[in-house]
Amino acid sequence: MLTTDRNSVNEAIRRVKPIGSIMDETGHTGALLKRTLGVVSITAMGIGAIVGTGIFVLTGVAAARYAGPGLILSFVVAGIVSGLAALCYAEFASVVPIAGSAYTYSYATLGELIAWIIGWDLILEYAVGAAAVSIGWSGYFADLLHTVGIILPKALTISPFSGGIVNLPAVIIILLITGLLIRGTSESSTVNNVIVAIKIAVILFFLVVGFGHINAANWSPFLPFGSGGILRGASIIFFAYIGFDQISTAAEEAKNPSRDLPLGIIFSLVICTILYILVTAVLTGLVSYKQLDVASPVSHALILLGMNAAGSIISVGAICGLTTVLLVLLFGQSRIFFSMSRDGLLPAFFSHVHPRFRTPYISTLLVGVVVALVAGFTPIDVVAELTNIGTLAAFVLVSLAVLILRRTQPNLHRAFRVPWVPVVPLLSIVASLVLIINLPWITMLRFLIWLVLGIIIYFAYSISHSHIANQRVE
Ligand code: ALA
Repeated sequence: MLTTDRNSVNEAIRRVKPIGSIMDETGHTGALLKRTLGVVSITAMGIGAIVGTGIFVLTGVAAARYAGPGLILSFVVAGIVSGLAALCYAEFASVVPIAGSAYTYSYATLGELIAWIIGWDLILEYAVGAAAVSIGWSGYFADLLHTVGIILPKALTISPFSGGIVNLPAVIIILLITGLLIRGTSESSTVNNVIVAIKIAVILFFLVVGFGHINAANWSPFLPFGSGGILRGASIIFFAYIGFDQISTAAEEAKNPSRDLPLGIIFSLVICTILYILVTAVLTGLVSYKQLDVASPVSHALILLGMNAAGSIISVGAICGLTTVLLVLLFGQSRIFFSMSRDGLLPAFFSHVHPRFRTPYISTLLVGVVVALVAGFTPIDVVAELTNIGTLAAFVLVSLAVLILRRTQPNLHRAFRVPWVPVVPLLSIVASLVLIINLPWITMLRFLIWLVLGIIIYFAYSISHSHIANQRVE
């Protein structure tokens, strides 16, 4: 056991995990996975992980409560913040040439404490994010049933904080996907491409159907909440861009990772930004922004104009699209717990692998049950805002990491290099902080409590159970 004097704590939080040992543990020699993915598949993978509740659900709340039609500009702002962070993320990921998350990369480069904090933040991105997506899924599901004449009792589709009892469809979809993940269903690239095609098709369908019904009067006033509403809107719909960091997990399957990964990240962000801007412009042009404060605004707007069949088509597409985002998020969360536990920072049961299914079933089940409970009993804005703040905080650390590593390890091999260092990482840090401070103070308070809890757990448990620490002591 390490003593807790200042020097040993200092040494502990700086210890890094050798890249070679990460490769050995994961069985990744770099030649095991087939290098089949080109720019198109990687971009499709990005869009598969990105397009979800942000555009299909949060657009409504953000337009109605924060930005009005000016939400169009919020999407531009959030797209720029994500793009800056994406460049930093791509360099960070290219230093450690294996599949992993920001947690793995930072453990190899920045030290255990920062890695722990990033891992802790990623719980908000993945697990809490999955809760938000499932609540969005539930809204479209209830809407679809409604169009075929089945009306679910309201009390069973919204959380107690919104006047209901439990959001049952959200709980059920999380548990179903947890079951799939335990059995080891992994999304194949082909299935993903098909679902991405469906997602984009329904969005284009919405644009085409909606375009002819735009009433330009709905765009006025453009900024009913003032220009500050643009930033407040951006800090909410930033959620719509979360997921591009998933692309770096394809590092080992990319044909030419140093070129294809950054291109895939940038293409998927640009395509999503264009789609988001167009959808928001049409949506706020179809009906008054005040009418969009609902769980399924995209289909709702069409239904309000009497286009019920078109509304149902959108609902089916949204349900498919949101399901893949859920798979990606829940999969990611269980693998992060798995890595943290394998490093000794979390208890060993998190990395137990099922003898038959070969999946980390305990961490998957635990994540599934907790996320299902959160999804059933929490309103969407609370979980979406927490997801945003956790992800933005991780981006701040990742951008800082790029700056630190350029100084401390200038000769490290980087397959991809951020242009204009230090300007781009610094802009990325400032941009993410601007979105953070535009979130409601209660969200910041919740996040601080989360951070303090994480740091307590690190010093109470992880610092002394870390496998690297124990290897050194033995
Ligand atoms: N960007 C993903 C979504 O909007 C998380 O659902």
